[in-house]
Amino acid sequence: MCGIVGYVGRQQCADILVSALKKLEYRGYDSAGIAVHSNGKIKTVKAKGKIAEGLEAKLAKEGKPYGTCGIAHTRWATHGEPSDVNSHPIGNGRITIVHNGIIENYREIKEFLISKGYGFESETDTETVAKLLDYYYSGDPIDAIISALSDIEGAYALGIIFRDFPEKIYAVRKESPLIVGKGKGENFIASDMTAILEHTKEYYLLEQGEIAVLDGDSISFYNLHKGSIEKTICIADWDMDAAEKGGYEHFMLKEIHEQPSVIKTTINPRIKDGLPDLSECGITPEKLNSYKRIFVVACGTAMHAGVVGRYVIEKLARVPVSVEIASEFRYREPIVSEGDLVIVISQSGETADSLAAMRLAKQLGAETLAIVNVKGSSIAREADMLIYTHAGPEIAVASTKAYMVQIAVMYLLAFEMALAAGKIDETECRRLTSLLRETPEKIEKILENTEDAQYIAAQLLTADSLLYIGRGLDYALSMEGSLKLKELSYIHSESYAAGELKHGTISLITDNVPVIAVATQQNLFDKTISNIKEVKTRGAKVIIVCRESYVPDKDIADFKFGLPDDVEDLLMPMAAVVPLQLIAYYTSVLRGNDVDKPRNLAKSVTVE
Ligand code: AGP
Ligand code: GLU
Repeated sequence: MCGIVGYVGRQQCADILVSALKKLEYRGYDSAGIAVHSNGKIKTVKAKGKIAEGLEAKLAKEGKPYGTCGIAHTRWATHGEPSDVNSHPIGNGRITIVHNGIIENYREIKEFLISKGYGFESETDTETVAKLLDYYYSGDPIDAIISALSDIEGAYALGIIFRDFPEKIYAVRKESPLIVGKGKGENFIASDMTAILEHTKEYYLLEQGEIAVLDGDSISFYNLHKGSIEKTICIADWDMDAAEKGGYEHFMLKEIHEQPSVIKTTINPRIKDGLPDLSECGITPEKLNSYKRIFVVACGTAMHAGVVGRYVIEKLARVPVSVEIASEFRYREPIVSEGDLVIVISQSGETADSLAAMRLAKQLGAETLAIVNVKGSSIAREADMLIYTHAGPEIAVASTKAYMVQIAVMYLLAFEMALAAGKIDETECRRLTSLLRETPEKIEKILENTEDAQYIAAQLLTADSLLYIGRGLDYALSMEGSLKLKELSYIHSESYAAGELKHGTISLITDNVPVIAVATQQNLFDKTISNIKEVKTRGAKVIIVCRESYVPDKDIADFKFGLPDDVEDLLMPMAAVVPLQLIAYYTSVLRGNDVDKPRNLAKSVTVE
């Protein structure tokens, strides 16, 4: 989620805060604001839109708040459309905050505070934190923070200022990153070093459960029992460009590594008492049970997420699902009618073909459900029902973390649909939901080993073409693996159902057409191995993506990428896509391509 900065020192801070926010623009945002201790009050200026057209224009019109202590924010909306009132900083005259992340239990907190007489101006989850701090505040900011954190569930990085303490900034975090910058006669908080690198290279990493208290001359840290903590200073050895990528060489690699955390921020708020709960998105079990046919309509990677979703929904809920390429769907006079559900998946929410397909589906009487990452986008606004993914801004043109959270949402949908249809009972639904919640840690484990992917990538550099093969969910996954490789490395590849290869395409096999075989589905494993042998005997170099415990003979595979054995078949796509992403990434790097902006590609295809 987006950007936080704070400054306390001897300089006027308004310009410092705005300049620091601009260093975070690369992360994508929809609004921005600052709050400054000024003449005994907290003065907040904030606006929807880009910093220049929104916040800076407002500052020019209203004047910059005068003061040497303040906080600032670029927002990537998750709760409440992009608007002036939903922008941060948020608070009342006594306490004002900026927040990155998602408060999962904000509804319960809001209801409690309303019962205590509090009113709310914004639609954000963040405002509940600001008001909860106010509720607990009785003169000691740290006490108020500790009390409020004990009620909050979710991911947060918080910058907090109290009117009664005009020269201090307070900061805490859980899941969302936050650092504390140490200057000379001035100190900072920031979401990452990019924002403050021009001021200092010395910083502290704020850990979960730590409270930072800054003024111009000192930085103190406390635990949640108000005990003092000593922390070690870090020195940033990054340049500005590297800092924007959080130390990763490319945004794509950073976003691959963000996948575990964005899965959590996407699915955790939609799980209540161990079961999927999509009610906030306008989806009820009764509704889910009413659809006799489902269409998934999307483009590119989003469409591939739909293919995974189809396998899972049909397997569990036993409802027929058709996955449609949006640009085809909109012109083939599809047989869609009332009582059908059309799911539109889109990271940008602005893809012209997907938007047009959704409009057509609505004209034909179907109910539409959008799964979208960019808040307030066209597809999000026009769908009958809406599930936002919370991947945060995806900067790299090639989609990775957005795909991951799209399939995560499809799993949740499939589980709730199957439970509503009585195809699985609550025990099984809880078990599957629990397995889904475990996937981030499995992916973390996979990401500890990028060397194998780098080594495999080096074997592909001179290939004429590649084949990605698999069966079932492995075939669905091979589609995404093939697209990733093509769009990043510019090497042609094709995904193929492993069982279909012998019906013609196997004629392409030579010793310079490597085959990447995805073989994670245990019920189809032996058959996939047979198909692998068919290509191996014809000279193909074979890379197998399979469970760690399987050790392929040399007559089966030349290279292996091993996956955790304890991932259940059904959830394997969330694990197995990671090596496919990494292989494509490293092949692109080795070929010297522009990894984050591959030739000919746009992040959002808003034309036909
Ligand atoms: C992503 O890797 C691709 N560049 C592209 O296929 C993309 O998935 C497709 O254009 C759909 O975009 P959307 O998800 O924003 O609708
Ligand atoms: N969930 C908060 C909101 O929607 C913060 C979003 C962010 O991380 O920018 O305002």
